[in-house]
Amino acid sequence: PLPFAHKTPQLGFKPVPFGFADKVVVPDGYVAEVLYAWGDPVGIAGNMPAFKQDASNTAAEQALQAGMHHDGMAYFPLPLGATGSKHGLMAINHEYTDDGLLHVGGMQPWNGDKVKKAQAAVGVSVIEVEATAKGWQVVRPSKYARRITANTPIAIGGPARGNALMKTEADPQGVEILGTFQNCASGPTPWGTYLTCEENFDGVFVNESGNLTELEKRYGISNKDAGYRWAWEDFRFDLQLNPNEANRFGWVVEIDPFDPKAKPVKRTALGRFKHEGATVTIAPSGHAVVYMGDDQRFEYIYKFVSKNKYHPNNRKANMQLLEEGTLYVARFDADGSGQWLPLVHGQHGLTVDKGFADQGDVVIKARMAADILGATKMDRPEWIAVHSHKPGEVYCTLTNNSDRGKDGKPGTDAANPRNSNLFGHIIRWNENGGDATAAGFKWDIFVLAGRPDAGKAEHVGNIKGDAFGSPDGLKFDHNGVLWVQTDVSTSTVNMKEYKGMGNNQMVAVVPESGEFRRFLTGPNGCEITGLAFTPDNKTMFVNIQHPGEPDSERNDPAKPTAISSWPDGPTAGRPRAATVVVRKLDGGVIGS
Ligand code: FEO
Ligand code: CA
Ligand code: CA
Ligand code: CA
Repeated sequence: PLPFAHKTPQLGFKPVPFGFADKVVVPDGYVAEVLYAWGDPVGIAGNMPAFKQDASNTAAEQALQAGMHHDGMAYFPLPLGATGSKHGLMAINHEYTDDGLLHVGGMQPWNGDKVKKAQAAVGVSVIEVEATAKGWQVVRPSKYARRITANTPIAIGGPARGNALMKTEADPQGVEILGTFQNCASGPTPWGTYLTCEENFDGVFVNESGNLTELEKRYGISNKDAGYRWAWEDFRFDLQLNPNEANRFGWVVEIDPFDPKAKPVKRTALGRFKHEGATVTIAPSGHAVVYMGDDQRFEYIYKFVSKNKYHPNNRKANMQLLEEGTLYVARFDADGSGQWLPLVHGQHGLTVDKGFADQGDVVIKARMAADILGATKMDRPEWIAVHSHKPGEVYCTLTNNSDRGKDGKPGTDAANPRNSNLFGHIIRWNENGGDATAAGFKWDIFVLAGRPDAGKAEHVGNIKGDAFGSPDGLKFDHNGVLWVQTDVSTSTVNMKEYKGMGNNQMVAVVPESGEFRRFLTGPNGCEITGLAFTPDNKTMFVNIQHPGEPDSERNDPAKPTAISSWPDGPTAGRPRAATVVVRKLDGGVIGS
């Protein structure tokens, strides 16, 4: 039961200005404190190596510490099923690595030990956290503490289990995968598990032959390494040697944070694409519905509806809810209505002669199936948020798309109304009848981001309140406030069209009034992403990703501290991604 009345929330804080300093800025009356930074020990008994600022921690030590580039996360009250707000578990994604910072000497020279360390610095952390007299702290040691990395065994569930495209020499049955990586956004489930989402997996695979299959091309695999250089030392990532390994990534992975021995499962019924997040809601009928974005230019928005129903008192049964169900992709029509198109083998052209032998093929090639169904090509779908008090009301960030309208690319449509969409927008839909399982919906554009002082009309937008661009993280708190986090890329932040807008930021939104109010700005070179609240809404957890990220204009990759040394300060040295705790000094509800 929620402690909050279902009424329109009021924002009570004074907005913060654009941020240009190497620190986290929150409104007067609030405090932001670092809880868990890259290299901090996760808390496994007898195995808690301290972070070394010179980056000399080994791969084995890194596998016992916080990974890099914190992203989506969730808070689970302890014990399982509790609703308290002082003691819990957190599951935290570590999306990817900055190898210039991760190793002594950066990427020079490159070797197998550095690949092993990078593989240990991605994936997921599970930590135990507690509110103490000295503020929130990580509990160490903790029986729950766990790191999941690029080499942790993970089971394959759903229709792709055992599929020919999932079989490799190391796994001839197609039933178990080593690891998860590029873990971007995420979602908690009502049954106390964590869904972590594999986004830009293509970047660690290489097919140097250049003879790319249609499937490889459709998922962005290329003949060049994206910069991670794993395939140079670990031939699992060389697609000439292991052609099916890339098919084993791009999934949603379910983790039980309460059981550190439980094997995670790739839930293939939810489809394979560059998964941004997985937002779960329970429909009035009891079916679990999962909303998911595919974050690339001109890709799609999906939802999954479980075959079986959620049982509030049967966790064991709920653990299988994401095994079976129907995957849909969205079509937004110009009249303001929309349709969920089912990706079901044998229906609507998803047949053997089109290259889909069975439902396993449909989910592995979900993008190609969605192409056939005629889904709407969106401006990079990122996070999806379901209104905390209004069933069936859903919001999705479309971060930006500089390619819309370019030669050979799709032009505008009703749901993506701007060419060269540099600031992005947020789309909203209401499922028919307020039922998340509905086949149709009504939609509108909630906001076009931009800046009122922009020189060009298409960059002005229609924000009521504080300006922002490139919305990415999006989540409702328990009080009905919608929070938006920005990911303006390092090559653009505070430059070009974004000049004068400062560092990445977070704004609070009251959806009923449409007011946007800036709540937080981050340190130099960071992205703000990842958001969780305690059930009393009095503690907010925010992730600061890649502070000090190098860019060609302002920063020298050889000097990682050139623009940021957050959070440890200039005398300490290298910047570290971290989870930050935000509290109101008077102990009140966040945002009030
Ligand atoms: Fe990892 Fe789409 O952001
Ligand atoms: Ca993101
Ligand atoms: Ca993004
Ligand atoms: Ca990022």
